[in-house]
Amino acid sequence: MRVVLASGNSGKLRELTTLLAPLGFELVAQSVLGIHSPPETGATFMENALIKARHAARSAKGAALADDSGVEVDALGGRPGVYSARFAGENASDEDNVHKMRAELHGVPAEFRQARYHCVIVFVRGPEDPEPLFAHGTWEGQIALEPRGAGGFGYDPIFIPAGLHRTAAEMTSVEKNAVSHRARALLALVTELKETGLAS
Ligand code: IMP
Repeated sequence: MRVVLASGNSGKLRELTTLLAPLGFELVAQSVLGIHSPPETGATFMENALIKARHAARSAKGAALADDSGVEVDALGGRPGVYSARFAGENASDEDNVHKMRAELHGVPAEFRQARYHCVIVFVRGPEDPEPLFAHGTWEGQIALEPRGAGGFGYDPIFIPAGLHRTAAEMTSVEKNAVSHRARALLALVTELKETGLAS
């Protein structure tokens, strides 16, 4: 089955292709089809993922897959959540967002800097699919005040996964992709696809 991926992120395409190709899914990035991302106007990861998936499905007239993710910090009352990419402003860079996070958590003791990444993945069979499949994955950790490491992206230089002393940016991509919120959501989606008979 050909499935349009509602993302232009080549890292995500690679990660998703590895897991979904053995199930007979051929993933095509929406950018290849000239499809642009719609505004993420939802209040939750689920809403935003569904907005992206439906938009891609409508434009490509077929099945689509989308994910939405972000980080939730306890000391910030769950912020930035769905606004993670825009934490420091509409066109903020990863560095801007990390800088703002460090500034907001300045002086906050480690035990209150607990955080978790969330990822929601949605699969729709077509634009009007009345029963989209949803899968959710989380990755627990703590926000560090000093950035370390050059791998990953986003908040990885200041995210220390629970049980580790390294930041996510100090992990190899293979290590991260085995345990991340996105990997967990994807595995849950694969289980759902098999349960609903969409994959074997
Ligand atoms: P989106 O799911 O592509 O909209 O990403 C939302 C934002 O959440 C990203 O721009 C990052 O700031 C953050 N984020 C999501 N997943 C990760 C991750 O694996 N590492 C670091 N930051 C992430």
